[in-house]
Amino acid sequence: MTAQIISGTEIARQIREELAREIAELKEKHNLIPGLATVLVGEDPASQVYVGQKEKTSLALGIYSERHDIPAETTQPDLMALVDKLNQDPKIHGILVQLPLPKHLDETEVLYAINPKKDVDGFHPVNVGKLMIGEPDYLPCTPHGIQQLLVRSGIEISGAEVVVLGRSNIVGKPIANILLQKKEGANATVTVCHTGTRDISFHTRRADILIVAAGRPKAVTADMVKEGVVVIDVGVNRIGKTAEGKAILAGDVDFETVKEKARAITPVPGGVGPMTIIMLMTNTVRAAKLAAGLV
Ligand code: GUN
Repeated sequence: MTAQIISGTEIARQIREELAREIAELKEKHNLIPGLATVLVGEDPASQVYVGQKEKTSLALGIYSERHDIPAETTQPDLMALVDKLNQDPKIHGILVQLPLPKHLDETEVLYAINPKKDVDGFHPVNVGKLMIGEPDYLPCTPHGIQQLLVRSGIEISGAEVVVLGRSNIVGKPIANILLQKKEGANATVTVCHTGTRDISFHTRRADILIVAAGRPKAVTADMVKEGVVVIDVGVNRIGKTAEGKAILAGDVDFETVKEKARAITPVPGGVGPMTIIMLMTNTVRAAKLAAGLV
């Protein structure tokens, strides 16, 4: 079987065009400009790239963008004061504090301090709870992007056996929650596997849709999947550098062998990555509309 390659780059481009039209209309009809603040603490190179991409995309779309790069030595009270300032700022509809934070900072306290209405990451416990009961204001960006990849590629989710590898708060737990809701683009039977799972292959071989966020290259090999599976690879592993010093990326799935058995599969790069960024823009536009009483 030759797998359909699910291009996140292409699907993100479609959503970007839809969003650009919506943003232009919000400005024209309501004089409303969505505003996003990103906060980057320290100089982690991968985080710098992610925040840079978020800033670039928001500017290109006509979203007001504020970037706060603060030193790694920033204290907890200083970071809390910045979050509070952004909570009060009416130009800012969405706040994103890039994770992970340096070790001396308390991530939980920071995430709890973001006004849930401005929590475009969907990480605040209020938003996690709302997602769980099926009444979300915001879906977390990476899982929301995964759902869009499946829906826009015409993959039937309702009734499917979905197996998720990984139970992080950013990907594994929320994607499981999203896909099990009794809703369109969901209604699946979901199994979540993790480092405590006894026989991972037993589960992955049953999967109609396999979502891999294990954080390890080649965590999924061809012998672990059935013919006709749909594979979404969330992994971003830096496995080396080019002669020019650019990072070489690989996912968590052994793409070359698994694609021979899969019906559809996402590449790395160009799969889930571009979707995460565009879903952040979607959430920022939604935050602006919520603040203006338009939804
Ligand atoms: N670090 C890795 N993924 C994410 C994300 O989706 N949001 C934030 N804030 N930090 C991240």
